Amino acid sequence: MLRIALLGCGTMGSTHAHAYTSLREAKVVAVCDIRLEKAEALASLLGCVAYTSYEAMKEKADYEVLDVCLPTYLHCRYATDAMQDGKHVFCEKPIALNLEDADLMVETAKEYGVTFSVGHVLRFFPQYQAAVAQIKAGRIGTPALLRTTRNQAFPGWSWENWYQDSTKSGGPEVDLAIHDYDWLLYNFGSVKRVYAKNLGTGHPKQMHTLAILRFASGAMAHVEASWALPKGIEFRTTFELVGTDGQLCYDSSRDCPLKTQLGSDEEASLFYDNPLSDEMNPYRAELKAFLHAVEHKTEPVVTAPEAIAALQVALAAKESAHSGKVVHL
Ligand SMILES: NC(=O)c1ccc[n+]([C@@H]2O[C@H](COP(=O)([O-])OP(=O)(O)OC[C@H]3O[C@@H](n4cnc5c(N)ncnc54)[C@H](O)[C@@H]3O)[C@@H](O)[C@H]2O)c1
Repeated sequence: MLRIALLGCGTMGSTHAHAYTSLREAKVVAVCDIRLEKAEALASLLGCVAYTSYEAMKEKADYEVLDVCLPTYLHCRYATDAMQDGKHVFCEKPIALNLEDADLMVETAKEYGVTFSVGHVLRFFPQYQAAVAQIKAGRIGTPALLRTTRNQAFPGWSWENWYQDSTKSGGPEVDLAIHDYDWLLYNFGSVKRVYAKNLGTGHPKQMHTLAILRFASGAMAHVEASWALPKGIEFRTTFELVGTDGQLCYDSSRDCPLKTQLGSDEEASLFYDNPLSDEMNPYRAELKAFLHAVEHKTEPVVTAPEAIAALQVALAAKESAHSGKVVHL
């Protein structure tokens, strides 16, 4: 059984912690967050030790895998330190904010012979997987037009409001749209050029990106990702995949088995639960797949070069929105 240390006990740390509770192939032995109450809450869920410093956890805890759920600007520093210490690393998406850090992470993993993967979780959503299976079976013919949306209110829950600072989060182009970029690249091949627009500076608290991608296959995609919805409006993702013979459509707002809405001023007043089965939890599935790759010394489902390719598209969209020009990859 692999021993895990979880670094960062905020939103995603908590999501991963809950996923680990039903994974038999792993035992979380340590959790760490600079906020003691966050670390203690997950330590009590998992029955493990809470630390408030990575260095103390590294010195005292015995583990093979570090799961990095820190704000994105901290990924590279802690992931590479762990790799140099011989730990396998699972890191939340995006891999990093720039290609230099991303390359360093990939090179360090190679040099120290550890398994490294990034949380591009859309690959594990049953609805997205089912759509790909239909396309591969030829159901809609040749894919031509791919439209994805991923829209939410600003993620105001974060520690020190780090999402607001795009030098720390990358903004919705890098933080949010990257989910769809990874999924599109993985399933529809490489992208040749990108053209993007953002909501302008007249809306400092509402961030939004819309990118048009041209694939090497000739297909095109519209990728919309937003932190522009007013607080309290439901997080919603959709896709429309149009082929020569048909289309596949998905809308997350019609898809949740159990939705709880509380009358509240708090950020977290809307909760989604899937009481049907642990197996359907995509976060559990991605961690399970990663642990399998570590245990069997096989390539992870999401490889590090793929995480870099998604980042390249996200950075191209950012550059295009800034320059007003098409960016060729
Ligand atoms: N896969 C997904 O669906 C998904 C969704 C949301 C966020 N994310 C990604 O997950 C990562 C974390 O985002 P989040 O929303 O959980 O952020 P968050 O702010 O909720 O949590 C980050 C936690 O890290 C802690 N922290 C900060 N510096 C630390 C340090 N040096 N040592 C230990 N703990 C430290 C903070 O106290 C906080 O609890 C980001 O990269 C984000 O892009 C992924």
